[in-house]
Amino acid sequence: MKNINELIKKRRTIHSYSTETIDEVLIKEAIDCALYAPNHKLTFPMRFTIIPKEFRKALANISLTIRKKKGRVLTPEDEAKIIQKFEKPSHILIVSQVKHPDPVILKEDYATLAMGIQNFSLYLWEKGYGTKWSSGSIIREDELYSLCGINPKEESIEALLWAGGAEKEPSPPKRPSANDMTKTLGSPNS
Ligand SMILES: Cc1cc2nc3c(=O)[nH]c(=O)nc-3n(C[C@H](O)[C@H](O)[C@H](O)COP(=O)(O)O)c2cc1C
Repeated sequence: MKNINELIKKRRTIHSYSTETIDEVLIKEAIDCALYAPNHKLTFPMRFTIIPKEFRKALANISLTIRKKKGRVLTPEDEAKIIQKFEKPSHILIVSQVKHPDPVILKEDYATLAMGIQNFSLYLWEKGYGTKWSSGSIIREDELYSLCGINPKEESIEALLWAGGAEKEPSPPKRPSANDMTKTLGSPNS
């Protein structure tokens, strides 16, 4: 088991996935970890929709339609690559948030969702798998809501979550240090 500092700092968002499969038990455990995120008012706002392989083509088609609407010209090879990108990873999940009528709770619920996704990702990273949170335009598409059977009046889709074996691990982005981002009241440089 990696120590917590190493686990947090070495985790990377994975963009390209192998075909390695994650056991369903681990995915359920990762979702359980997400549900252990701190949650003011214990609203449990997260919902998870697993998109199995047989639905990935439909998912890829939503992405293709978006690109075409944006005026992208796609060759059959480009299309095949995009379809493969969606078909390859072990798991793709949609994470949605139940819409609370109170705007303060809505914001706090999003905080819980984000912490939940981090718990999910760290759990799988520790098991040797990568994840990625996508918030691209696909998560705002009516077709995605329809595919997932999510009523947009009741829930908002906040993440398309990829999970699987990492084909390539990106180099770590440069991050500021605690000293760069912290001031202590009363100290000379505050
Ligand atoms: C709310 C949220 C949305 C994100 N959406 C995307 C996305 O649409 N596409 C993407 O490539 N990465 C996305 N990411 C991942 C970040 O780009 C990534 O965390 C950042 O580049 C730092 O890399 P690291 O996670 O490896 O430290 C998202 C992360 C968060 C928290």
